[in-house]
Amino acid sequence: MLDDIPALKEIDKGDALGVLEGLPDACEAALKVADALELDYSKPSRVIITGMGGSAIGGDLMRDWLKKDVLAPIETYRGFQLPVYAGRKTLVIAASYSGNTRETLSALKDAISRRCMCVAITSGGKMLKLAKEKGVPYIQLPGGYMPRFAISYLLLSMAEVFYKVGLIEKHDEIHATIGLLKELRDRLKADVRTDKNPAKLLASQIDGKIPIIYTFGPFKAAAKRLKAEFNENAKIPAFWGFFPEISHNEIEGWASDLSKNFFVIFIRDKGETAGTRGEIEATKGIVERKAGVGELHARGDTKLEKILSLVYIGDYVSVYLALTQGKDPTPVGTIQELKGKLVDW
Ligand code: F6R
Repeated sequence: MLDDIPALKEIDKGDALGVLEGLPDACEAALKVADALELDYSKPSRVIITGMGGSAIGGDLMRDWLKKDVLAPIETYRGFQLPVYAGRKTLVIAASYSGNTRETLSALKDAISRRCMCVAITSGGKMLKLAKEKGVPYIQLPGGYMPRFAISYLLLSMAEVFYKVGLIEKHDEIHATIGLLKELRDRLKADVRTDKNPAKLLASQIDGKIPIIYTFGPFKAAAKRLKAEFNENAKIPAFWGFFPEISHNEIEGWASDLSKNFFVIFIRDKGETAGTRGEIEATKGIVERKAGVGELHARGDTKLEKILSLVYIGDYVSVYLALTQGKDPTPVGTIQELKGKLVDW
């Protein structure tokens, strides 16, 4: 079914496949959009990236990418009020693609009142209005995406803020990563048949099961992203866990017959240590007594290449899974329903 392009297009009314195919080009556009930001903050002592859902995951990806290279602690904050230690030397990046997410708006207001070094990243809405009113520097993203599909813009805008405050050098890693994403696109896009397309293959294996992603090291945000993409694109439950923690609790659950409803995707990397490799292989052996198992391999050499290749392949897997099941990946009716029921504040 995944090789019947007219049938895919018929289901994919929101053109998620088109958005994914355009992702490497969106990364290039994002660099230009973010470059316009002018900032006179320098060297914060810590960074808090505040947001929710598809806008927050960029913060987790930044942390996985940079936490071993940047002296300032980086954290992602999902909630209404910032931690008590947020102060004048804290860089607060508030990211809300729509600009109307109540938690993020509240956290930005909190950051402004505590005189943090604030930056807003948004396509418009109340956040853009607030930033203009309060003189908060902002990056305005182009509209028209679902927030999760604007990951290129959100992530690279965050990287630009890190650069402009002197936390990272402007390095070639980003350009090399975009090059890799272009190569990957040619292996993942819709007209590459299932037997040659790793994303279609993995989606066909998962079909009918509940996915769980097991990850390690700097690939936690990539796993968390994939879990959310399964939720939002394929509209199914999904979970994730990470080594070595799962070896101390979650592994025990695989003795249960309930486990047969799951499919575990193991994140792999050619640079994984012998210890990690052994732990993954041993866990796989236990899990496959009951559940389906598969692997998702990071590509490239640098940390950013590896992380974003996992994100890109995973996004495609989730979209192909949705289409296999006859679901249009783009609309998120249940999230909208819930947001409509929440009381304004
Ligand atoms: C929808 C999505 C959601 C939103 C979240 C916050 O595509 O991914 O997780 O990102 O509801 O909304 P924004 O991103 O507009 O602040």
